[in-house]
Amino acid sequence: MHDAVSPEVAAAQYALRAPSVHNTQPWRWRIGHDRIELYADRNRHLAATDPDRRDLVISCGAALHHLAVALAATGRTVEITRMPDPEDSGHLATVHISPGPGDPEDAALFRAITRRRTDRRRLSHRPVPHSMIEALVAQAARLGAHLVPVTGDAMRRRLADTLARAAEEQAATPGYTAELHLWTGRYAGSGDGVSAASVAARPPGLLGPSALRSFPRSQLAQPIPPPGHGPSDDAAEFLVVTTTADTVEDRIRAGEATSAVLLAATALGLATTPLSQGVEIDATRHAIGTKVLHVPEQPQLVLRVGWPATNAGELPPTPRRALRSVLDPIRPRDTDHRSTR
Ligand SMILES: Cc1cc2nc3c(=O)[nH]c(=O)nc-3n(C[C@H](O)[C@H](O)[C@H](O)COP(=O)(O)O)c2cc1C
Repeated sequence: MHDAVSPEVAAAQYALRAPSVHNTQPWRWRIGHDRIELYADRNRHLAATDPDRRDLVISCGAALHHLAVALAATGRTVEITRMPDPEDSGHLATVHISPGPGDPEDAALFRAITRRRTDRRRLSHRPVPHSMIEALVAQAARLGAHLVPVTGDAMRRRLADTLARAAEEQAATPGYTAELHLWTGRYAGSGDGVSAASVAARPPGLLGPSALRSFPRSQLAQPIPPPGHGPSDDAAEFLVVTTTADTVEDRIRAGEATSAVLLAATALGLATTPLSQGVEIDATRHAIGTKVLHVPEQPQLVLRVGWPATNAGELPPTPRRALRSVLDPIRPRDTDHRSTR
């Protein structure tokens, strides 16, 4: 942890490592002496890609859980109130902080924060053990969401078809391509966006559509399959984060669960890729629930999880905004409130 700053400021710094749609990091924090408030940054909303702000809120939920993990690792107890202010829909959560003990299951995920990356390359042909999938399902449940594994060839095919349909629809959505170019062609040092160094081109010889989002620029090398294996020989598992309802609070919880699942998978040595195209289009999101998974719950995000391919090199670190860009001063009424306690 950082020595020179308070644990709360250090936790906000670690929270910047959270995954976010197109690496927009659409959150802001207000740090008080016994609590931290989380706000959505609507200036960073992707209007064409994410019309109902699902990705934006899930990204904020992931940052919220990263913050809780960092606080747990310094022995702080946190209690989270989601959507605390009926007058302010952008105020997503208030984290109340008190001296320890920190939640041990969250604290155990701390070291994965700086190691986790989104891996967009072909994954290994080695299957993910069932016990690991069960551990990830338990992580999502702990954070108040469900993680539904996509099992069997027929279900996998239905998911692949649905994701391909979402990609086709988005390609024809006004503004989608412009947004993609904007967030993948950031100026050097911008601290956000998806750089070409983190994107691999479609593996040559892959049969059928790719489940991954297609980005305009790619510089990341695809690992060569080992002898006896082809490019389609990829044992990645697909898992869908779902929630019982679809309120903003459910989406925050989906983001927290996504963070826990990705960090736990990283700690197990697995590679992970969040895939949101299927949930960005109403019709395909509905189809993922009713026609792919056959569950009554609300699909929030698709996750790809698998072993990194043999000979896959380490992924480059992804850029982040400066901490000062995501911190807001405490408002005067907050200071008054604190002085009366
Ligand atoms: C809600 C959400 C949606 C995302 N959707 C996609 C996606 O469709 N395709 C993809 O390659 N990455 C997706 N990502 C991953 C982000 O692009 C990634 O987290 C970001 O670029 C930061 O990189 P990092 O995860 O390596 O730290 C998504 C992440 C979140 C939280």
